[in-house]
Amino acid sequence: MLPWVYWLQPILILLSSVFWTWGENCPATCLCPDPHTVDCSGRGLTRLPEEIPLDVRRLLLADNWIPRIPSDFLVLYSDLVYLDLRNNSLSYIEPGTLSTSSRLVFLDLGSNNLTEIPKGTFGESRSLIKLRLGNNPYLSMVSEDAFLGLTSLRELELERNALSTLKVEALSQLPSLRVVRLEGNPWVCNCNFTNLFEWLMENHHKLPNALDVGDSVRNMRQ
Ligand SMILES: *[C@@H]1O[C@H](CO)[C@@H](O)[C@H](O)[C@H]1NC(C)=O
Ligand SMILES: *[C@@H]1O[C@H](CO)[C@@H](O)[C@H](O)[C@H]1NC(C)=O
Ligand SMILES: *[C@@H]1O[C@H](CO)[C@@H](O)[C@H](O)[C@H]1NC(C)=O
Repeated sequence: MLPWVYWLQPILILLSSVFWTWGENCPATCLCPDPHTVDCSGRGLTRLPEEIPLDVRRLLLADNWIPRIPSDFLVLYSDLVYLDLRNNSLSYIEPGTLSTSSRLVFLDLGSNNLTEIPKGTFGESRSLIKLRLGNNPYLSMVSEDAFLGLTSLRELELERNALSTLKVEALSQLPSLRVVRLEGNPWVCNCNFTNLFEWLMENHHKLPNALDVGDSVRNMRQ
C-alpha cells in the first residue's frame, strides 16, 4: 500500500464512528444537520424531546407548544451555546434554570407567554450576547436586577411586551449593551420612565436605536 493510505485509514475509522454516533443520537422527531445541532423546530412538540445528545451546542425548538423547561435543563446541556425557544408556550422560567448556562451566547424566548422576568432569572450567564424577550404580550414586570451578571450582553429585545414601566437600572447595569428594543410597549410617563428616557438620551451614542420606544416618547420629544 502507498504510505498515505496508512495515514488515511485511522482518520476514516474515526470519521465513520463520529457519523455513526451522530445519526444514532438524533431525537426521532428532529433533524441533526451537523454533529452539534439538533433542530426540532415546528414539530408540534408539547414538551422537550427526550434523548437530546448531551453535547448539543445549538438547540432549535422554535414554533412548538413547549410550556416549560425543567430547572436542571442547562445543568444537563452545559455545552449549549445557542438556544432558540421562540414561539412556544412558556409562561414561567423557574429561578435558577439559566443560572448554569455559562456558555450560552444566544437565547431566544420571544413570542412566548412570559409574564415577568424576576431578579436573577439568567444567573450569571456571562457569555450571553443576545437575549430576545419581545412579543410576550403579558410581560409587564421586568425586575431592575433581571439582567444582573450579564456582562457580555450586547443586544436585548423587549419590544411589543406589556411594559408600562422599567427601572433604568435594568439597563444601566449592562456594561456591553449596544442594541435595545423597547418599542410597542404601553409606557406610562412617570418618574421611572423619565429616568429611563434620560438615560437613553445620555447613551444615545452607544445605543443609537433605543429611542424608538413608541408614541409616549415622540410626545415627550415634541
Ligand atoms: C408559531 O408556532 C405555531 C405552531 O407551530 C405556528 O403555527 C405559527 O405559525 C408560529 N407563529 C409564527 C409567528 O411563526
Ligand atoms: C397566556 O397567559 C395568559 C395570562 O397569564 C393566559 O390567560 C393565557 O391562557 C395564556 N395563553 C397560553 C397560550 O398559554
Ligand atoms: C417603577 O418600577 C418599579 C419596578 O419595575 C415598580 O415597582 C414601581 O412601582 C415603579 N414606579 C412607578 C411610579 O411606576
